[in-house]
Amino acid sequence: MLRTRFCEVFGVEHPIVQGGMQWVGRAELVSAVANAGALGFLTALTQPTPEDLAKEIARCRELTDRPFGVNLTILPSINPPPYAEYRDVIVESGVSVVETAGFNPAEHLPAFQGAGVKVLHKCTSVRHAVKAQELGVDGISIDGFECAGHPGEDDIPGLVLIPAAADRITIPMIASGGFGDARGLVAALALGADGINMGTRFVATRESQVHDNVKQRMVEATERDTDLIFRPLRNTARVARNAVSQEVVKILDAGGTFEDVRDLVAGVRGRTVLETGDLDLGIWTAGMVQGIIRDIPTVAELVTRIVTEARELISGRLAGVLN
Ligand SMILES: Cc1cc2nc3c(=O)[nH]c(=O)nc-3n(C[C@H](O)[C@H](O)[C@H](O)COP(=O)(O)O)c2cc1C
Repeated sequence: MLRTRFCEVFGVEHPIVQGGMQWVGRAELVSAVANAGALGFLTALTQPTPEDLAKEIARCRELTDRPFGVNLTILPSINPPPYAEYRDVIVESGVSVVETAGFNPAEHLPAFQGAGVKVLHKCTSVRHAVKAQELGVDGISIDGFECAGHPGEDDIPGLVLIPAAADRITIPMIASGGFGDARGLVAALALGADGINMGTRFVATRESQVHDNVKQRMVEATERDTDLIFRPLRNTARVARNAVSQEVVKILDAGGTFEDVRDLVAGVRGRTVLETGDLDLGIWTAGMVQGIIRDIPTVAELVTRIVTEARELISGRLAGVLN
């Protein structure tokens, strides 16, 4: 066992989280994470309607009797999804924890707190972490520049972001971005976090419902095989490097607008990559941690390996340094 206060507050065995992932955070993966003693999040917006989310939560419950959560990614948009309805489904379903991300969660906190749903807020800067702590969330997930998806615009890697946040955050804090093995977990604990959140590493497991080509590409990819798209639009996203991501970077660097890349970045194309394994069909999300992913284990094998090796690392190599 490797327990931290995160385990106590969020009711899980291991200080390991599987963050919300669009098109990936489904019942098969999340229940496997729960059954392995870690904390997995279904992704609310992967479900086309709030009613479908309720069904997915029920499906996950059939696959595990251990705690799991739901990720609610709030992205400001012209035609936003019905966030309040998704939130109400989360509250009514009785799940014990929600991962909020993308935007200030203030509007949704009273409903979660009133129902006793623990809130783990994921953000990419110390100032946003401090703000969320002031708002009364139960935990922070701090996502460094290495991460898959949206790293923000500050470009602060975990080696600085995590201890900088730890100096200001008093509630349980999870380090995110670039974690994939026991070395990362031990480093996160040393930097002041209470555990780790992983996205990309959990995609490359047997239970994640994406095409094998995607998982295999993650094994083959190096740490250099991601692109930062939408930089000039100040809405940066780290994605797997492929023909489409390179084209998008080229167009925007040359002064193009979102309209010029709209078709290339369409969500449906990215979703099709994950489903069909046609890797150059669209944009799909992956992080630098690909560089240390070398296999496609089951979730249980992955979690057990990380926890076991972390213990060995602490009691072996690190303890040895003291002599
Ligand atoms: C395929 C994929 C989809 C993702 N979709 C979301 C999402 O919808 N909402 C969200 O908050 N984070 C999303 N993320 C980010 C992860 O939850 C997590 O913060 C990130 O992957 C951590 O970095 P890592 O990949 O280096 O572990 C996604 C990540 C991946 C790999």
